[in-house]
Amino acid sequence: MLAAAAIAWLSGPAAAEAAGITLPPGPGANLVYARCQTCHDLQYIVDAKGLLPAQWKSTLAGMKDYGLTISPADEATILAYLTTYLGPNPPPAAASSPASGATRMAGAATSGRHVFEENCSGCHGPEGAGQAGIYPALAGNADLAKDAGLPARVVLFGLTGPIEAGGASYTGTMPPFGHLGDADIAAVVNYVRSAWGNAAGAGSVDAKAIAALRAHPLTSSDVHKYRAALLSPPPR
Ligand code: HEC
Ligand code: HEC
Repeated sequence: MLAAAAIAWLSGPAAAEAAGITLPPGPGANLVYARCQTCHDLQYIVDAKGLLPAQWKSTLAGMKDYGLTISPADEATILAYLTTYLGPNPPPAAASSPASGATRMAGAATSGRHVFEENCSGCHGPEGAGQAGIYPALAGNADLAKDAGLPARVVLFGLTGPIEAGGASYTGTMPPFGHLGDADIAAVVNYVRSAWGNAAGAGSVDAKAIAALRAHPLTSSDVHKYRAALLSPPPR
């Protein structure tokens, strides 16, 4: 419950404003995006840049007190990332990222299931069951069948605003995952639309389609409007 209280307290418009924050690319960055935005945005983490290893360690211990649940392996990966890339002596950006698009190109061949487990399951659950009132279920979610453009935009640009899904109401904010590559986003969209007995209504998306959506950036509130228009009953 503490986690839920912290979400209500820390997220909201600030999270949407902070949507553009990106982390220095490096092994473990994806885990930070996936696990550390449930209660607050990345600004907290970026602002803490320069902490010594022992300080990052005690910061993580503090997050666990606040309600972060994490496996020892993931904690070790995150700690290694934070102390390397947000520690007192980070490697020069050029060394880890020859081109700004480097993280986008990486992992082109990863499976949708893998992308889901690394980036989405922390909130939506390993089996997509969500958490009623906090994170909508993706398993059995009829909204996903309508149009691949909805989950694709949600993943690229995030989603802010009250929604109804599977009979429950949500007023949360999903952070954008635009730091993932086009192929990874296509793979995870296809995965959530077809996993757990979900049947995608109209085919699948590919990396090209994601790139085309990416070329027209939206805010997470715009995605909320898009969703409302898509799901409103058609005129008779
Ligand atoms: C369960 C909720 C929760 C999760 C998940 C969470 N945090 Fe926090 N975090 C908090 C709260 C609550 C604060 C304190 C906010 C305040 O003082 O205004 C905080 C503050 C911070 C701060 C600011 C310094 C401090 O210690 O107050 C840093 C840095 C931070 N978090 C890093 C992280 C990192 C890294 C992760 C991912 C491993 C993470 N957080 C995940 C709840 C969480
Ligand atoms: C930090 C928690 C969190 C993570 C991580 C997360 N989501 Fe979400 N997601 C949410 C929340 C909260 C909402 C509802 C937002 C709202 O109320 O407007 C949501 C909504 C959605 C929706 C819209 C559901 C509907 O019924 O319209 C889709 C699709 C979705 N998420 C897919 C994903 C995918 C795929 C990933 C991984 C790439 C992911 N999410 C990662 C929290 C998260």
